[in-house]
Amino acid sequence: MLTATIGQNPMLWRTSPIGTELEEVVVDWLRQALGLPDGFDGLITDTASTSSLIALAAAREAAGFDVAQHGLTGRPEMPGLRVYASAEAHSSIEKACMTLGLGRDALVRIPTNDRFEMRVEALKAAIAEDRAAGRRPIAIVATVGTTSSTSVDPVEATAAVAASEGLWLHVDSAYAGVIAMLPEARAPFAGWERADSIVVNPHKWLFTPMDASLLLSRRMEVLRAAFSLVPEYLRTLDRVTPVHDYNEYTPQLGRRFRALKLWMLLRWFGLEGLRRRIRRHLELAAWFAAQVDVEPDWERLAPVPFSTVCFRWHPPSWTGTDEALDDANAAIMDTVNRTGEVFLSHTRLAGAFTIRVSIGNLRTEQRHVERTWALLREAAVR
Ligand SMILES: Cc1ncc(COP(=O)(O)O)c(C=O)c1O
Repeated sequence: MLTATIGQNPMLWRTSPIGTELEEVVVDWLRQALGLPDGFDGLITDTASTSSLIALAAAREAAGFDVAQHGLTGRPEMPGLRVYASAEAHSSIEKACMTLGLGRDALVRIPTNDRFEMRVEALKAAIAEDRAAGRRPIAIVATVGTTSSTSVDPVEATAAVAASEGLWLHVDSAYAGVIAMLPEARAPFAGWERADSIVVNPHKWLFTPMDASLLLSRRMEVLRAAFSLVPEYLRTLDRVTPVHDYNEYTPQLGRRFRALKLWMLLRWFGLEGLRRRIRRHLELAAWFAAQVDVEPDWERLAPVPFSTVCFRWHPPSWTGTDEALDDANAAIMDTVNRTGEVFLSHTRLAGAFTIRVSIGNLRTEQRHVERTWALLREAAVR
């Protein structure tokens, strides 16, 4: 409400000094909270889709073809460009390839292991195959917290491949990134400080109203090379100190004053307050996973590195087909959702219909998670 009422437009420092400078402050606070080194700077965008689009535009620019100036078409010297991400990476990566003129064919989906993590040997083989065929690898996307199962790609090993191959490394941690605010829980992020860009969404698991996505990069000058276009009417003549004109790093000019809600969130809860709540979510998810694990009629279908539990009903006595088991689980989920008390989502893991409980709301308590488990078990015996 405040953002709408104040009506600031931090597209240039000149149009909103407070919007610009508060964004610099909150981006730096969040960087520190995530335990990332001060070589990272960044900005707030609307969504992870936009953040990853900007990151991959920078990767395209870093490849050295000056696509910002010359485009991609009508250039016989231009090889096919390639981006690598796991089979479990979010569709926004594929969409970025569509939008950036690379095409969906440019995205090479790397197979995963049985924990749904990108296989680094397969990544290396795909890069070698593309190079041998005259194609030009430009970027690798590692996901920490994939959308389906919240699996974690091996970031450290992927960073080593990116470094030895000279590729841009983008880490998509839109959902799980906030966990790096817990110093004791940073293991899944090891190596992300070597990334060229990182996205973390405060609007997913940091209690921030839509929309707010944090894009961090160690190479802001490349983002700027990809998007800066400064006609006379956008030139700041009276600037004495170097500041960000954020429109130079993004496709759009006008921007919302998103830093205000992030500043309020950080000031209101404090870092320790946020950590306490997020730790609680991990405990609630661990509790739920433990119920699934001890109950013979239920089966967990993926590791639980964060606060999302993937599982299904699958009694040992089951003699029906796989399709019938999928239908039974879809019916269980539907029954629970129709109570209107809790809302579960689903995915498919290794082909199996998978129910998901994901805990991330500020007001979710133990009693809600217990109720969810009770409703699921009731639905299963119907
Ligand atoms: C890993 C991951 N990346 C990106 C996205 C897209 O997020 P947004 O809606 O902010 O574009 C999601 C959304 O589910 C996601 O889980």
